[in-house]
Amino acid sequence: MTDIRVRKSCRGMSAIKITPIVQSKLNNLDMSEPPAFGTVYSDHMFVMDYRDGEWQKPEIKPFEDFSIHPANLTLHYGQSIFEGMKASKNAEGVPLFFRPEMHSKRLNASARRMCMPEVPQELFMQAINELVTLDKDWIPTVPDSALYVRPYMFATEKYIGVRSSKEFKFVVFTCPVGAYYSNSVSLRAEQTYVRATPGGVGEAKTAGNYAASLYPAMKAVEAGYDQVMWMDPYEFTYIQEVGTMNIFFVVGDKIMTPKHNGAILKGITRDSVIKILRAEGRDVVEMDLSIKKILKAYKKGHVKEVWGTGTAAVISPVHQIAYREKVMDFDPESYTIGPRLKKIINGLRSGKHIDQFGWVKPAVSETLVEAV
Ligand code: COI
Repeated sequence: MTDIRVRKSCRGMSAIKITPIVQSKLNNLDMSEPPAFGTVYSDHMFVMDYRDGEWQKPEIKPFEDFSIHPANLTLHYGQSIFEGMKASKNAEGVPLFFRPEMHSKRLNASARRMCMPEVPQELFMQAINELVTLDKDWIPTVPDSALYVRPYMFATEKYIGVRSSKEFKFVVFTCPVGAYYSNSVSLRAEQTYVRATPGGVGEAKTAGNYAASLYPAMKAVEAGYDQVMWMDPYEFTYIQEVGTMNIFFVVGDKIMTPKHNGAILKGITRDSVIKILRAEGRDVVEMDLSIKKILKAYKKGHVKEVWGTGTAAVISPVHQIAYREKVMDFDPESYTIGPRLKKIINGLRSGKHIDQFGWVKPAVSETLVEAV
């Protein structure tokens, strides 16, 4: 039996055609132990093509493979962007999103930089609302878990000349996930390779940034570290970010983080942490952050905490940083600010913490069942 639902079109937006799965895969999963990050996919996906200068009919359908033409432009020149968001359930079982409009805005900023069409914010919101409502039983509720939501867009035109594609696909799928990092991490300040330069694409969440990070990340692991700490491209002295996270240092009574300079990803967890801390009256400084300054403060015993922030990573403690031949060791057991922030962010996401900022949005479906 086919159950085709059509989402009510609203203020001129397209209706979403929804084709639910016949047999859910959920029964095979033990949700008391969420799977390793990015290994299990929920029942449905949202798909919408861009062609002839406009977005075509949006659709939610059973999760399935794509078929890709060998000359697909993304495969050759990497015109591809993504977002990472999380949905959690509150005590009443309502799925909640954390700052979804920020993710929509950042996706569109990445799209502009990569010469791709923007996805209207209302359509983005409809897509995630319908998809997550349909697959809400896939949202794990054990501590540190969530439904990871992955909106992304890639070029689909068949052509191998170097120019922007004229056709694209926007997709959203979801996966139940546990913690991204289960332990604190060690970092090596990179001294050879560069993630991004001002004027490049470091601010965009585009596939190439992650591809370019793989070899230096492998080298850092071979040298005994968990992650690369990216440094500025001129002097390898100013800290940019870490693997999949932005980075914060608690130095004395100040909390320091590298400032945006066109090369650092505009992290939404980074922004949330800064706003939470400032609302508490803490001194958060966004600055050109020299590793030499951190080293000097470390020698005086002033570096109290180091942690990374990210959607997947939430707040992940750092226990070691190597800069050239110098090694700084930290004791995450003694951290107070980082763990408290993690509790607040996770609490906001699951509706346990009062949302004074208006960041948390319940998933709302406006589906009409049109034909069964
Ligand atoms: C996220 O934190 O959602 C990210 O995008 C990092 C990802 C590459 C795992």
